[in-house]
Amino acid sequence: MGFQYFSKCVLLAFCILSQGLANGVFGFACNWGTRTTHPLPGNIAVKLLKDNGFNKVKLFEADPAALKGLGKSGIQVMVGIPNDLLASIASNVNAAVQWVSQNVSSYISKSGVDIRYVAVGNEPFLSSYKGQFVQTTYPALQNIQAALIKAGLGRQVKVTVPLNADVYQSDSGVPSEGKFRPDIEDQMTKIVKFLNQNDAPFTINIYPFLSLQADPNFPKEYAFFNGSAAPVVDGSISYTNVLDANFDTLVSALEKIGYGSMPIIVGEVGWPTDGDPNANIKNAQRFNQGLVDRIVKRQGTPKRPTPTDIYIFGLLDEDVKSTDPGNFERHWGIFNYDGTIKYPLNLGGGKPLVAAKGVRYLQKQWCIMSPQASITDPNLAQSLSKACTYADCTSLSPGSSCGNLDAKGNASYAFNIYFQTMNQRRDACQFNNLSTITNIDPSPAQSGCQFKIMIDLGRHEYRSTPSSLAAPTKVLDSMVMLVFSFMFFILSSLSM
Ligand SMILES: *[C@@H]1O[C@H](CO)[C@@H](O)[C@H](O)[C@H]1NC(C)=O
Ligand SMILES: *[C@@H]1O[C@H](CO)[C@@H](O)[C@H](O)[C@H]1NC(C)=O
Ligand SMILES: *[C@@H]1O[C@H](CO)[C@@H](O)[C@H](O)[C@H]1NC(C)=O
Ligand SMILES: *[C@@H]1O[C@H](CO)[C@@H](O)[C@H](O)[C@H]1NC(C)=O
Repeated sequence: MGFQYFSKCVLLAFCILSQGLANGVFGFACNWGTRTTHPLPGNIAVKLLKDNGFNKVKLFEADPAALKGLGKSGIQVMVGIPNDLLASIASNVNAAVQWVSQNVSSYISKSGVDIRYVAVGNEPFLSSYKGQFVQTTYPALQNIQAALIKAGLGRQVKVTVPLNADVYQSDSGVPSEGKFRPDIEDQMTKIVKFLNQNDAPFTINIYPFLSLQADPNFPKEYAFFNGSAAPVVDGSISYTNVLDANFDTLVSALEKIGYGSMPIIVGEVGWPTDGDPNANIKNAQRFNQGLVDRIVKRQGTPKRPTPTDIYIFGLLDEDVKSTDPGNFERHWGIFNYDGTIKYPLNLGGGKPLVAAKGVRYLQKQWCIMSPQASITDPNLAQSLSKACTYADCTSLSPGSSCGNLDAKGNASYAFNIYFQTMNQRRDACQFNNLSTITNIDPSPAQSGCQFKIMIDLGRHEYRSTPSSLAAPTKVLDSMVMLVFSFMFFILSSLSM
């Protein structure tokens, strides 16, 4: 009797657990940006997400390849509306209806994409936008909500507005003094009230890396999670990391306008690996491991002990992302652009990262500065400028992974990245006779500097069959459930 009761409990627990896994209850969330010349094919990227336990993903726009790949994957999706669409959606309900119809309804019904949120704008109140989107965000939010209701999706799909942490501040620096920025306080109050009425969450992007970047006196250890920095003491609470402090500053700002228990999603948080002296593998690994450990432990902040959804930024590097904020912008990926691993992470219980599978590459050849060419050649500067205008040279900037190359190495890096970005077209390695093609990898030994070879987009387009890669794990999940349910059924009947 005791044994049977025990086995029943164990089996029940297994059933619940496998159900949980099949439904993707336990898992990570991340941002999947697609500003890249060589996007990882949708089905391969979705398999990469699943293999690494991501069950929630945020897209910055309704990217068709990404959304098709996400169809029937079991991954929950937040789809973003770029800021440049806000004005038209704000001024015209019909534009909102069209957007929802084309970019939400059809993907749900035709492709089986599990869309849960629409992100209206992306950090529209960022101070550096100088108020450009301040008047259009709230009406756009209202129109998208109305369009979702009209499409019969009012319950299933929630609206939100991902905002940057610069929408709030604390004059004294302690989180409990948090309040919204005075110039947008009225808009923030309207938006928060509207989200609350519609059962929708507040979304905030928090960047300890940028805090460190912006202030040379920022205590570096305070950016990480296990630092020994002098804590910020706020009444009875001691804050030892900027993420907790920043999040709780928002909680205080919400309390001040009467919505202290509003659900909050962290829409972006992460650390880049290149393009800046603070952006390197060591710091990114330390930060993201600390972040993942918190997520695994389901740890909250001092003011909000219940865990929240945290979308890591980001999945992959993006070689055409704007570098206005800095050269590091193209290097936020946990993975390289092609889904290869940059650094190890323990995803809980020692589970390591898994690289993308089935990626096809261009030939093993590189374009370099030819041995006969001279660095004093008058055509060199113009050649370099052309290469770095059309391809991503951010890894050459000071303090970056290829920042220590000599002038010839520099030129070779630039020629090669251009040649690869142009899919190894023959005429893409003709820099006024200064370049040549080699089959020997020119990446310097013992350094983090990689001379890339790009993905072969053509071979993926013609050969990949969408969702064929995603299917087996789904089948396995269902089979595991079936077996457990069956065993449970047998045992229950036996004990009766
Ligand atoms: C759907 O989203 C895409 C990507 O952002 C955009 O280009 C397109 O205009 C949207 N469709 C409508 C009808 O707004
Ligand atoms: C912080 O964590 C990293 C890895 O996550 C570890 O290597 C380092 O020793 C830790 N530092 C402190 C001060 O505990
Ligand atoms: C290499 O290129 C970078 C970026 O174009 C430049 O800042 C740097 O000065 C160059 N280094 C040498 C040694 O030419
Ligand atoms: C490159 O070199 C070839 C001969 O080696 C010459 O005919 C051609 O004009 C050169 N092209 C340029 C752009 O200098």
